[in-house]
Order: sequence, then C-alpha cells, then structure tokens
Amino acid sequence: MKSPLIVALDLPSAERAHELVGQIGDLVGAFKIGKELFVRAGPDLVRRIRDGGAPVFLDLKFHDIPNTVARAVAAAVQLGVRMLTVHASGGRAMLEAAENAARETAAQLKTEPPLVLGVTVLTSLDSDALAGIGMTANVARQVERLALLCVQAGLRGLVCSPLEVAALRQILPPDIQLVTPGIRDAGAPRDDQQRTLTAREAMAAGANWLVIGRPVYAAPDPRRATESILASL
Ligand code: C5P
Repeated sequence: MKSPLIVALDLPSAERAHELVGQIGDLVGAFKIGKELFVRAGPDLVRRIRDGGAPVFLDLKFHDIPNTVARAVAAAVQLGVRMLTVHASGGRAMLEAAENAARETAAQLKTEPPLVLGVTVLTSLDSDALAGIGMTANVARQVERLALLCVQAGLRGLVCSPLEVAALRQILPPDIQLVTPGIRDAGAPRDDQQRTLTAREAMAAGANWLVIGRPVYAAPDPRRATESILASL
C-alpha cells in the first residue's frame, strides 16, 4: 500500500480540489469525491485528478434497483475510479450486481476492478432512528448483519466507523478491506464527529484505509498536516 490515507475533497469547487491535489497528491493513497463536489464538478474533475496520477474514490453511495446500480458502477469503472460506495441496505441482489458490474466492466477494459465498498449503517443513525425506518436491531447488530451480507454478496471491502473496526475484524474474513472516517488527533477539534480514534489507533484496530477531511484540507499547511498524520502511524 502506497499510503493508507484517503483525503476527502469536501471542497466547494474544482479549483480548490485541484490545488489540494497538487499540494499532497504524492502523499496519499486516494482522493475521495463525494456528492457535493461530484454534482458541481462531475466526471471531468474525476478524469483530471485520475489523469494527474492520483487514484479516485467516488463516494456516491449508490442505492437503487440492481440494474440501475450495476449501470452506475459500470460508468464509474469507465471513469477509472479505484474505489466506490454502495448502500448495503440495498440488499444482496443489488450488492452482487454492483460487484459483478465492477468485475465485468474492468475485464472488458483490461484493468483491475475498483474496490466496491459497502456502507452499513450511517453513523448519523442511532437505534431510535433505525426503529423509525422499521429496523428493530440495535445499531451494532445491524452493522454486523449488513457487513456479513456484503461479504456473502462478494464485496471486498466496507466503510465503517473507527469504533466498529475491532468488532468487525472478529467476524469478517481477514482480506476484507476496512475503510474508516472519523479520524482525529488526540486533542484536535472533533468538528461534528462524535466518536473518533486517532489514525494510529484506527490502523491498530484493523483499518486498511483512513478517510480524512478537515484535519488536512482545513489545516493552515495541508502538506505538513498530511506528513504529520503519516509520521504518527
Ligand atoms: O472532515 P472529516 O475528517 O470529518 O471528513 C470525513 C469524511 O468522511 C467526510 O467526507 C464525511 O462525509 C465522510 N464520512 C464520515 N462519517 C461516515 C461516513 C463518511 O465522516 N460515517
């Protein structure tokens, strides 16, 4: 692994995103493009970052009927993204369709398939919120259930909270890639993240990749901030 850091480009414009990619591209494993930046700057931005040599993690959290998700995944593979997300609650057929579309499209293009990552339970949902949408399991049980569903459907990775990594490592095959946001230095501002671990703690618990946003892009010197997180590992 070149670098386990994935830096979230939660920035309002393609120009700001490019500036950051230029500053730290050689230090990070991938850049994450989410809904805001994708809706603003679209596939062109993905291509420009990818053509500059940096892998792209497309975090659009697909959740739809299997055929629609498969087509969206195929389009993402054609764009050259290295990681993408789907909601595990879309069900087994949808997850299988996503993984198959990734593999088949990559085979047609003679490239490696991207990592299709399952999102289990959004960290913004608690047990009450789950009950409100008709799910009676507590959050931890629901996370485990959906994580196992992702594995059964053939996915090779998951996004999870840093506080779920250790428990998931107990029940998942060891080659499943775990990607975790919610990373903060001890003593650093938590922003809106309630439950955080340091980068070192999350890696020790069994994470493969760390998604980091504000501690890098909002730092006075993003390159120094990135180097300091890498040194802490
Ligand atoms: O700025 P910060 O480091 O908190 O950014 C974390 C990134 O990970 C953001 O892009 C956020 O949307 C994403 N994320 C998260 N918590 C989740 C899932 C995704 O913070 N449960």
